[in-house]
Amino acid sequence: MNIHGTGCGILDCIFADEDFSGPAYQSAMSKKSGDGGLTPGQLVFSDALEKFMGRPYDEVLASLNKSKTPNAWNLGGPSAVSLAHAAQILAGKNAGSKNYAVRFYGVRGCDNAGQTLMEKISSIPFTDIRMIPKEYPHSRVDVLSDPRYNNGAGERTFVIRRGALDEFYPDDLGNDFFNANLIAFGGTALTPRIHNNLTELLQRSRKNGAFTEVNLVYDFQSELENPGKKWKLGKNDDAYPYIDLLAADQEEALKTSGKTGVEEAAAWFIKQGCGAVVITRGRLPLLLYSDPGTAGFFTKTEMTYLPSCEKVDQELADHPERRGDTTGCGDNFTGQVIAELAEVLASGKQNDIDLREICIPAAAAGGFACFIVGGAFYETETGQKRRLLEPYIKAYREQLE
Ligand SMILES: Nc1ncnc2c1ncn2[C@@H]1O[C@H](COP(=O)(O)OP(=O)(O)OP(=O)(O)O)[C@@H](O)[C@H]1O
Ligand SMILES: [Mg+2]
Repeated sequence: MNIHGTGCGILDCIFADEDFSGPAYQSAMSKKSGDGGLTPGQLVFSDALEKFMGRPYDEVLASLNKSKTPNAWNLGGPSAVSLAHAAQILAGKNAGSKNYAVRFYGVRGCDNAGQTLMEKISSIPFTDIRMIPKEYPHSRVDVLSDPRYNNGAGERTFVIRRGALDEFYPDDLGNDFFNANLIAFGGTALTPRIHNNLTELLQRSRKNGAFTEVNLVYDFQSELENPGKKWKLGKNDDAYPYIDLLAADQEEALKTSGKTGVEEAAAWFIKQGCGAVVITRGRLPLLLYSDPGTAGFFTKTEMTYLPSCEKVDQELADHPERRGDTTGCGDNFTGQVIAELAEVLASGKQNDIDLREICIPAAAAGGFACFIVGGAFYETETGQKRRLLEPYIKAYREQLE
């Protein structure tokens, strides 16, 4: 069972103790959508923020940061983090008869950030990591986190420094990328050349018989070019018929569908030809919807909501010291979706897949990410994350009964 993934793999630089209410942050805050200023919960490109502030980004960052150097560096990006989770979960299963191979395809910059990214990613039990070197700095996300924001609920804002990910072209993937049972594209809005060719890449995956999964990320480039307008998926907004499962958070789903409600959005994606849609909403119940439609992998699931995992919420309330942050909840959710799909496909099932059954462990995995700082978990032994996650999946099933 070959699981191949590509898209955004980025280095997260975490500044964990910022103060959004201070004067420096206040002057950097966005006044209207797409103006390049900071918005809690959202991301901007550093060059857009430079324009907004009229100063080089490094200067802006120095004026903002309470801690002058990052508190931590992490493996980030919706593709790398979701694939990393799937690799960790499936690695624990390779002892059995089914051989799961999880391969990550990306690019890396030739600088310290690229080096750090490689060190982080090398500790994940991927079967193979294909990172094409590029003569650029690696793309970074500065994660600016104010734990006191919103009456202590905490919030983060993200600044992306462009780099090698802008130079990631479809040809970098090579032919063997398409030789897989499941192909996952994650956060491609941050890899513009891949994103623009998403329809063709999905078509090629499909032609080779792969199940195709797409998970979205905030499309700041579209927001910058056409503020407030609908985002596209594929050059002509025509990727949907080649997507077997689409995962998005609420904002991404609304912006990409151009609808105002999640149910309308889910209906629109299915009508465009997606096989299954999952729209996550943080602690609010996630929405799922599937139709045998074009590729026929799924049974029909009417619109269904799944609540968040109570065991996670309870433990966070009882043990505030165990709180990590909510970065990567969606990526871990998707990673578990990929792992569950891999198992179902490995069992020989090519149709009648029950979307709800795929999403149940995934919602527990998304919640579990609340205990981690950043999206990726670095295991001390193979199967550790799987073992730690199991009680949450079990409790979540009980909660649903
Ligand atoms: N506070 C929470 N408590 C329990 N479960 C949560 C919580 N936040 C998220 N989850 C779980 O994780 C899933 C995905 O979260 P969310 O919608 O926040 O993703 P996201 O916005 O894509 O996150 P990211 O892009 O940072 O990975 C949710 O549907 C839910 O099941
Ligand atoms: Mg997300």
